[in-house]
Amino acid sequence: MITVRKMCLEDIDGVMEVDRDCFSIPWSRESFMMELESSLSTYVVAVDNDGVLGYGGFYMVLDQVEITNIAVMGKVRGKGIGKSILEALIKLALIGGGKVVNLDVRASNEAAKALYYSYGFKLVGMRRGYYQKPDEDALLLTLSLEEGF
Ligand SMILES: CC(C)(COP(=O)(O)OP(=O)(O)OC[C@H]1O[C@@H](n2cnc3c(N)ncnc32)[C@H](O)[C@@H]1OP(=O)(O)O)[C@@H](O)C(=O)NCCC(=O)NCCS
Repeated sequence: MITVRKMCLEDIDGVMEVDRDCFSIPWSRESFMMELESSLSTYVVAVDNDGVLGYGGFYMVLDQVEITNIAVMGKVRGKGIGKSILEALIKLALIGGGKVVNLDVRASNEAAKALYYSYGFKLVGMRRGYYQKPDEDALLLTLSLEEGF
């Protein structure tokens, strides 16, 4: 069974494996440790008996939530894990008093864009050349949590 729960220090090895599987510039151990120690940040993992399958997180300043990452191991994509992670993040953001959720996504990332649009995220802008490896624009998406989410 797959469970989504808050990330803890013991999850970091598994989370780094997911990150290496998903991104051309994975985060360092120190970055994850800093996020877990930050009072502004909230991270969750999707786990089963074999370990970490995916993770996601955000930081919140006042009522503004910024999703930093959502990632699911390639071998288990398309099974609803990304949705479960996003739903868990939105629930936790609401509990924490979040009113607006923002995120950046690679312009060509069709799977992630479809996931976010299906939850009502709207395209509000673009950062030219924001990403590296490969160079690419970022789309800025936003979701209001005040409109009866
Ligand atoms: C984006 C990502 C997290 C989705 O995770 P996932 O577990 O495969 O997603 P789910 O199975 O929960 O699918 C949720 C929705 O996403 C969309 N989606 C998922 N895979 C898709 C694909 N290959 N093509 C188009 N849409 C897709 C669909 O809208 C889907 O809903 P549906 O099944 O009702 O049609 C995953 O593809 C991933 O980790 N990618 C690499 C890391 C990344 O790019 N993260 C986003 C950073 S902004």
